[in-house]
Amino acid sequence: MVRPDLLSHYPRERTWLLPALQAVQRVEGWLSPEALDEVAAHLRVPRSEVWGVASHYPELRLAPRGRRLVRVCTGLACLARGGREVLGACEQALGVRAGETTPDGAVTLEELDCAFTCGVAPVAEVDHRYVGRVTPADAPRLVATADRDHSPARVTVTDRGHAPPVAGAGSPLARFAALKREAERRRTGARLAVGVGTCGLAVGAAETYEALREEVARGNLPFSVVAAGCNGLCWAAPVVEVLRDGRPRLTTGPITPDVVPRLLGALSANMARQDLAVDPEYMAAQQRVLIERCGMADPYDIADALRHSAYVALAHALEDGRPERVIEEVRAASLTGRGGAYFQTAVKWAACRAAAGQPKFLVVNGEEGEPGIFKDRHLMEGSPHRLIEAVVLTAWAIGASRAILYIHGEADLSAERVGVALAQARAWGLVGEEILGTSFSLEIEIRRGAGGFVLGEETALLESLEGQRAMPRTRPPFPVEAGLWGKPTVINNVETLFAVPSIVSRGGAWFAGLGGGHGTKLFGLSGHLRRPGIVEMEVGCTLRTLIEDVGGGIATGRPLGAIVLGGPSGIVVHPRHLDEPLVPRGPVNPGTGGVVALDDTVGVREAVRTLLAFNTRESCGKCTPCREGTARLLAMLDGPVDAGRVKPLAETVQLASLCGLGQAAPLAMLSALAEFPEALTRP
Ligand SMILES: Cc1cc2nc3c(=O)[nH]c(=O)nc-3n(C[C@H](O)[C@H](O)[C@H](O)COP(=O)(O)O)c2cc1C
Ligand code: SF4
Repeated sequence: MVRPDLLSHYPRERTWLLPALQAVQRVEGWLSPEALDEVAAHLRVPRSEVWGVASHYPELRLAPRGRRLVRVCTGLACLARGGREVLGACEQALGVRAGETTPDGAVTLEELDCAFTCGVAPVAEVDHRYVGRVTPADAPRLVATADRDHSPARVTVTDRGHAPPVAGAGSPLARFAALKREAERRRTGARLAVGVGTCGLAVGAAETYEALREEVARGNLPFSVVAAGCNGLCWAAPVVEVLRDGRPRLTTGPITPDVVPRLLGALSANMARQDLAVDPEYMAAQQRVLIERCGMADPYDIADALRHSAYVALAHALEDGRPERVIEEVRAASLTGRGGAYFQTAVKWAACRAAAGQPKFLVVNGEEGEPGIFKDRHLMEGSPHRLIEAVVLTAWAIGASRAILYIHGEADLSAERVGVALAQARAWGLVGEEILGTSFSLEIEIRRGAGGFVLGEETALLESLEGQRAMPRTRPPFPVEAGLWGKPTVINNVETLFAVPSIVSRGGAWFAGLGGGHGTKLFGLSGHLRRPGIVEMEVGCTLRTLIEDVGGGIATGRPLGAIVLGGPSGIVVHPRHLDEPLVPRGPVNPGTGGVVALDDTVGVREAVRTLLAFNTRESCGKCTPCREGTARLLAMLDGPVDAGRVKPLAETVQLASLCGLGQAAPLAMLSALAEFPEALTRP
């Protein structure tokens, strides 16, 4: 029987179906038939439908698994770096194949489509703890069943933000000034900010953080040690930013525990350690607007966020009192959706504001389930208060009274940090009732996904919030008219929203002045690059800039073979297009910004097969052309590909599919056929 308290706090409404199933699975490890019955009885949802939902989401388990779960990523970025060899070594060490459990029930081994930690590929995951840069030689250690701590790597942080300041009075700006004074009062001196994001943790950032704390305490050194997010330099992780008042930031890495004494010794003696510092040119090549605070500010401390200018745009906008002005600035900025479709953000917002229904909703799409892209996690982990500020601003602009942050089911660190930031913002009067003393109130809640690429499609996501299977809806009506529970709803990607505070503070024209009118864009660099990680560039940069100047070129010393741009919905690009600017809807479309650079040892056929196989598995099956067509295209890769057969089928899949998954699924194959015909057509 399910522990009664697990279900009792969920209201008897269908929207709580997925959270209830997740809660049971978290405690029991899987969803037994009895548990499904109990959820059905509590929520008053028919048993068949509970089963239908439970069997739909890949992260929900209808059978028990081993006591330990080991997963190895074989997505393209990991594949390029030897992920399949690591998986093979694990299979050998355990004596089972991927997808099986050892006969004693000790370990289940699985293959992962993407661990979203591509900057430290290849990656394995042991009981939800990521381990990066693994090799086949690590297999025995990864699958070891002995009593080892496999709990997710984490660091001990003291919550510095919850104690709220005494509520101020007066106008929004006057109240905000009081908060700023309090934040300044809590300022600490020089700081060592460790990049404790998912990528950093996978390669030892927690150990670096603890070693720094110990050494600083032991030597009574004038630094405080902060667990920040990552600054995007996965290649140099574990990274430590040295932040001293009145001096330029010093970015150092990799700082492993054995290097800590050297770093601290050099800092104490005021010596420059060039061997530990990261080349400042790497940062200078970027235009870091959205990620300006990532790696610098303490994500667990609202006071630090305020000292880094968080919530300034919100305070000024509320003081101004005209929500339409926010929409106008976003229109002037020409901000377009960074979820991949590049739709005009202001058009959606204005339509929702003008729509008749009430209440209105804002849904933040933090689902990020496309292999090869890991930018939204980076933003949420590194700068969660910026997201909260953007959400409050956006909700105010569109007339929403409720916002839902929908975060990928496995992005635990993102959810944790956004959750802490949300609680702090509430305690400081920046979320909830009568924000900064105005009549505007906003409730924000966090929901978690349960896997599946199509879940990130906006209407599938709404279905899941309503307690249904994640299957896209037909449009019209569009969500801005009839979205969540039939009410006007704006759905925005995390990166899109991250641009909003800067646009409101600095003006839409300023943002439009960057990137040829398109602003800036985050890119996730991975594959064979020497410097994988997250970077922010002006839109319109070239692949050459990304791959050679920022990414450091190909680490293996072999020639660049191909670039996969935009994940499984994207294209395979030939190196001859390195100088083409990356412009949305242009000849080389950046898509969601995943850049997987492959040397010439990875066959283009293999790359296309990986992408197409993913889309085939992930098709929700609602449309026949997508369900059947992707599988047939995939089968064509087993022999010499006949372009004459591919093209009409691809066209049918693209034209007759309901959502972007089917519409984009053939692109990788079509682009490869156009650019690398010999790789696909030869026997
Ligand atoms: C299969 C599929 C998966 C998607 N996954 C995501 C996702 O993970 N995150 C996201 O923001 N948008 C995703 N989208 C795009 C959304 O449908 C939607 O366009 C986006 O959330 C709108 O926000 P934006 O205008 O700010 O980009 C996906 C679309 C499709 C077709
Ligand atoms: S296009 Fe594919 S994923 Fe999208 S609704 Fe149709 S079957 Fe589902």
